[in-house]
Amino acid sequence: MAKFNDIDLSRWKEYEDVETDSLWIIERRDNSGKHNGFYHGNFVPQIPRQMIKRYTKKGEVVLDPFMGSGTTAFECESLGRNFAGIDINPDIVEYVGKNFESELPVYSEMNFNYMLAADSTDFAAFSEIAGYLASKGINKVSHVILHPPYFDILKFTNDSRDLSNSDSIDIFLDRFGKVLDNSLSLLERKRYVSIVIGDKYTKGQWIPLGFYCMKEAMNRGLTLKSIIVKNMAGNRAKQNKNTIWRYRALNSDYFIFKHEYVMVLKKN
Ligand SMILES: C[S@@+](CC[C@H](N)C(=O)[O-])C[C@H]1O[C@@H](n2cnc3c(N)ncnc32)[C@H](O)[C@@H]1O
Repeated sequence: MAKFNDIDLSRWKEYEDVETDSLWIIERRDNSGKHNGFYHGNFVPQIPRQMIKRYTKKGEVVLDPFMGSGTTAFECESLGRNFAGIDINPDIVEYVGKNFESELPVYSEMNFNYMLAADSTDFAAFSEIAGYLASKGINKVSHVILHPPYFDILKFTNDSRDLSNSDSIDIFLDRFGKVLDNSLSLLERKRYVSIVIGDKYTKGQWIPLGFYCMKEAMNRGLTLKSIIVKNMAGNRAKQNKNTIWRYRALNSDYFIFKHEYVMVLKKN
C-alpha cells in the first residue's frame, strides 16, 4: 500500500474506478447527493474524487483554498476525509455550511469540515485553519486542491481581492502564488497538490494560463508528477454555445477549447 492512499495493491484489479491515465474523458458530471452543479465555475465532482482516492487516506485532511460551492467538501464527506476550505465569497461559504448542517453525515467517517469566508492570499486565514487543526491534534493537511478562477473568464464577486478581478495576468499569477505559498505552509512533506485550471483566449491569442500556474508551482520547488488533460463537456459555460463557436472557429484560425488541466505536483 502506498503511504499516501488506501489502495490495497493485493487487490489492485478491483480499483477500476481509480484513473491512472493522463487523458480523462468524463461523459457527464455526477449530480448525485449534494452535488447539484448550480454554481457557475464549479468543477465536476469526479475531479476531487479521483484526487482524494489517489492521494489521501481516510481520516486525513484535504484543503481547498478556492472551495466555491463545496464540491471537494462533499466528496470528502462521501469518502471519509476531513475538509478545510476558504472562499472569498461569504454567500457560498454559508451555503456549503448550511448543506452540511441540513444533512448530518451519519454515513460518513468525516470528523470535521472547517470553512472560512476569507482571502486565500492572506496568511491569516491559513493560520486560523492551522489553529483549528491544532485543536484537533493535527499538524498538517494531506492534500491541497486548487481550482482558482481562470483569471477573468468568470467574475465571482465584486471583491477586489478576488483573483477573477485581477487587473493583469501578472497580478493574477502573483496572487495565485501567494495562495500556493500559504497552502504549502500547511501541507505535509512528500504529499501532493492538484491544480485544476484551463487556458483562455484574449485578443486573438491563446493564453496558456494552465502552464503559467504550473510554473508558479514548479518555481516553489514542487516536483511535477502529471499533467492530466480532461475534456470540458458538462461545464455550464460551454453548454448550448457549440454551434456558434464552431461557426466562428471555421471562420477564423483557432481551435475551440475542449479541455482543461489537472496538474499534480509533489512537495519534497
Ligand atoms: C473556479 S471557482 C472554484 C469552484 C469550486 N471548485 C466548486 O466546485 O464549486 C473559484 C473560487 O475562488 C474564489 N476566490 C477567488 N479569489 C479568491 C481569494 N482571493 N480567496 C479565496 N477565494 C477566492 C471564488 O469566489 C470562487 O468561488
